[in-house]
Amino acid sequence: MNSRRQFLTASATALLASTVTSANPKKFPYAEFEQRMARKNFQGMTKDMLPTPCMVVDIDLFEKNLKTMADYAKTAPILLRPHVKVHKSVDIAKRQMALGAIGITAATIAESELMSNGGIKGVLWTKQPASFNNVLRAVALSKKDPTFMFVVDDYAVVANVEEAAAAAKVKCKVVVSVFAGLTRQGIANGQPALELAQKVAASKQMSFEGYMAYSGAASHTKGWTARRKKSADDLAGVNETVALSKKAGLPVGIVSGGSTGTYNMDHELGLTELECGSYVFMDSIYRQVGGKSDDATYTDFESSMSVLTTVDSKHHAGQVTTDYGNKAMAQLTDLVKGKTWLQVDKQGAEYGLLKWKDGGGEIKVGDRVEIYCSNLDMSTNCYDRYYIAKGNDIVDVWPIMGRAGAAQR
Ligand SMILES: Cc1ncc(COP(=O)(O)O)c(C=O)c1O
Repeated sequence: MNSRRQFLTASATALLASTVTSANPKKFPYAEFEQRMARKNFQGMTKDMLPTPCMVVDIDLFEKNLKTMADYAKTAPILLRPHVKVHKSVDIAKRQMALGAIGITAATIAESELMSNGGIKGVLWTKQPASFNNVLRAVALSKKDPTFMFVVDDYAVVANVEEAAAAAKVKCKVVVSVFAGLTRQGIANGQPALELAQKVAASKQMSFEGYMAYSGAASHTKGWTARRKKSADDLAGVNETVALSKKAGLPVGIVSGGSTGTYNMDHELGLTELECGSYVFMDSIYRQVGGKSDDATYTDFESSMSVLTTVDSKHHAGQVTTDYGNKAMAQLTDLVKGKTWLQVDKQGAEYGLLKWKDGGGEIKVGDRVEIYCSNLDMSTNCYDRYYIAKGNDIVDVWPIMGRAGAAQR
């Protein structure tokens, strides 16, 4: 060290290093937090520095889940068009595409627009454009992105799409949604489905791409054998529709459906592609449906995402208050990572509750607790971003998109 300037620079570097290490998280200059996030400067940043409640993704477990599904789809074989409603993240969709997905499935027109604008090709929107507003958005997205597809299950919607598409001089890719055991949507199988598909195919403004058949009740049927039977029952009518269509000379490009619960059976039951979503993170309820190897616990995919919360107050026996309250989507069925003696309970909008019976472990004000949420779509919809963690270190941050405002639905 030969100059005063060198000495000051070295001291400043040493001071910065000492204030931004995981051993000394309290001295992390919080005013810099958002700037560092924006610059993706995660040097020295650890989980204990994160503002709570927040979502944290374990990158190793997450990548393992993505690979397990992608590898399975390749060997089954079946195509993969993962559902993004559970993660709402272009960063995650890009990783799914890089591993071989042929596109993504979306629950809303907003998700479809966001994914398409984020560069994702092959977006399938699984709710028909029933409102005038959504007809125009679906047609506009079809014009901008000719790989975009959406479903219909009603003649009135087909008529509205035809008119709007003619005005916009667009040919829309259309998939007919058929009943697959879930009474929320889908035209009746057999002749009614075929006739609607023929109507679509006959239009100059639409191309008929195939059928969408989501069996949501099968996905959560407990026990692998019972689940397989339920999925087969729910898809039986769909297979009849496909056979009838082929007999009538109508080519069926895709038969899309399936879920995390049925991913390793539906290629034998008539689907050509899977819309699995939850497998990226898994939620606490899904883990109870049982797998092929173990009918009690579903171990095919790891719990790779948790909500980090802080213990805010402790004054009463057998309970602490946290910041994981109703606004953070606390549910009684949530599970506490690593501390199974703690039970998630409800307290208020911003106030969460963790309870335990006699003989619980150690917990004090300021402690961090990680929660596995019960319903991914509902929970991710409450948070702005995923903090990506490798062990205890934060290595990236990914925005959660399309959550708020009418135009985002
Ligand atoms: C139409 C559709 N397809 C696929 C899925 C994905 O299911 P999972 O998250 O169980 O994999 C859903 C989830 O609700 C869905 O609504």
